[in-house]
Amino acid sequence: MPRLQDRVCVVTGAGRGIGRGIATAFLAEGASVWICDINPSTLEQTLKDLAAPDRLDGCVTDVTSRAACQAMFDQAVARFGRVDAVVNNAGGGIACAFVDIDDDLWAHEIALNLTGVFHCAQIGARLMLAQGEGGSIINIGSTNGMYGQAGMAPYGAAKAGVINMSKSMALELGEHGIRVNALCPGTILSGGEYDDPDHPTLTLLRSHTAVNRLGRVEDIAAAAVYLASNESTFMSGHAMVVDGGATARQLLMTATPDTQSQTVSRHTVPDSSAS
Ligand SMILES: NC(=O)c1ccc[n+]([C@@H]2O[C@H](COP(=O)([O-])OP(=O)(O)OC[C@H]3O[C@@H](n4cnc5c(N)ncnc54)[C@H](O)[C@@H]3O)[C@@H](O)[C@H]2O)c1
Repeated sequence: MPRLQDRVCVVTGAGRGIGRGIATAFLAEGASVWICDINPSTLEQTLKDLAAPDRLDGCVTDVTSRAACQAMFDQAVARFGRVDAVVNNAGGGIACAFVDIDDDLWAHEIALNLTGVFHCAQIGARLMLAQGEGGSIINIGSTNGMYGQAGMAPYGAAKAGVINMSKSMALELGEHGIRVNALCPGTILSGGEYDDPDHPTLTLLRSHTAVNRLGRVEDIAAAAVYLASNESTFMSGHAMVVDGGATARQLLMTATPDTQSQTVSRHTVPDSSAS
């Protein structure tokens, strides 16, 4: 039996990339899926390409607007009757040297990556509480929320906030059968401008993984299906890392005897590991 049969799932930022991949996987597992995106053309294209008119619908939404998020959930419930899972995926990072960050950039990164998640997580939680049958909220974090990266301070701060907020939500909502987890991708080839596998940055990032490849949207979609399904009913308040072992390598490098005497920074890879 499909793992999300008869579930209703909302996925934000699903016009492309990871969100589109999650919507695709949820449909394949039997769910009805409401998608939203700020970009009308990619939203429309996804609705057309996934071609499941009975179980897929959506609307243009800017998740940084509470009113827009509320209207989006209202439409989802009007269309499919309820909400069992919410994936807060809309997000993205802009690189900038810390000393050059202005208040507009800071506010934008926090609004998109943290406040947008707060809006939809809270509206989704209120709906699930009213339904009284539990649910699963999946907030897309990032391994950037777990360690520092030069040039990514606002994005990393927002993603760290997503991880922490998810844990507090889990503690408050668990008694109502509502599970909340952060799903934290490493580097995923999601169709962006740096998706050329031979790009020097991606070559370096691939060498940081344990499995010698970068992630695919399907890797994150499979984890989201698991978190939305009954297979994960004992998992809540967790920050689930799906990064091909990239963050494990950092811990290993600082913990093994032959590296204890070395100073190994996150972006320093021994010659034997570099491709
Ligand atoms: N790709 C990666 O390597 C990676 C790694 C870690 C975390 N993530 C996270 O995964 C999520 C998806 O990443 P992706 O690579 O698929 O990104 P993407 O840029 O391909 O897709 C993001 C989608 O969100 C939409 N969006 C942007 N602003 C929005 C808004 N205000 N309201 C609604 N929709 C909005 C965009 O139009 C786009 O369709 C993001 O939260 C990102 O931070 C990605």
